[in-house]
Amino acid sequence: MKSCWWILLVIVALFICIVISVNYHRICRRQTYYDLAQLRAQETKKPLLVVGDPVGGVATKYLGAAYGCGDVCLDMAGCPTCPTSITKKLEDWLPTAPSNSYVIYISLVLEYVDDDKIDFVLRELQRVSGGDLIIVHIPSWDLVTLHGLSYTKRKIIKAPPHSTTVTYENLTPLTAYLNINLF
Ligand SMILES: C[S@@+](CC[C@H](N)C(=O)[O-])C[C@H]1O[C@@H](n2cnc3c(N)ncnc32)[C@H](O)[C@@H]1O
Repeated sequence: MKSCWWILLVIVALFICIVISVNYHRICRRQTYYDLAQLRAQETKKPLLVVGDPVGGVATKYLGAAYGCGDVCLDMAGCPTCPTSITKKLEDWLPTAPSNSYVIYISLVLEYVDDDKIDFVLRELQRVSGGDLIIVHIPSWDLVTLHGLSYTKRKIIKAPPHSTTVTYENLTPLTAYLNINLF
């Protein structure tokens, strides 16, 4: 019986280690891609638009910002720690911006855009960025996207800078199966 507790303890410890390393990996990727976006902004002399509050994630709320604010930061809930913040939904703000006017860095937001808006948002991101688009997304192997266990609406499979277009797959969140609405 005593050995059963040990096995359980080891399994729990392993699970905690995996969760910590996956989150650490996510935070590191966000900073690396942000550096790339800053470099692109310098080269193109376009302002850098950051989409997604740098402290809007569950882990970043406690650990601090995973990336910078760029020249302007947009989030539907605002970017309260950034000097220049736009509180708007992407689908409402993008049509007001001129073509090829920004380098756009977007972190963990496309997963949450409404199903009927995502294709429009992707087209507009391409237009406003003129192709200078850097997207950080939840890796498709991450537990968060497994069978839509969370409230993410889709799994991003490929995105710039690794490919020229965005490939995604819509998910049915567990909350939809249970018929509950968290947000
Ligand atoms: C999981 S949080 C990610 C926070 C942060 N960007 C990060 O990388 O840790 C998702 C963010 O997307 C924002 N968001 C969701 N849908 C949006 C939309 N249609 N337009 C703008 N922001 C949106 C939410 O307000 C929230 O801050």
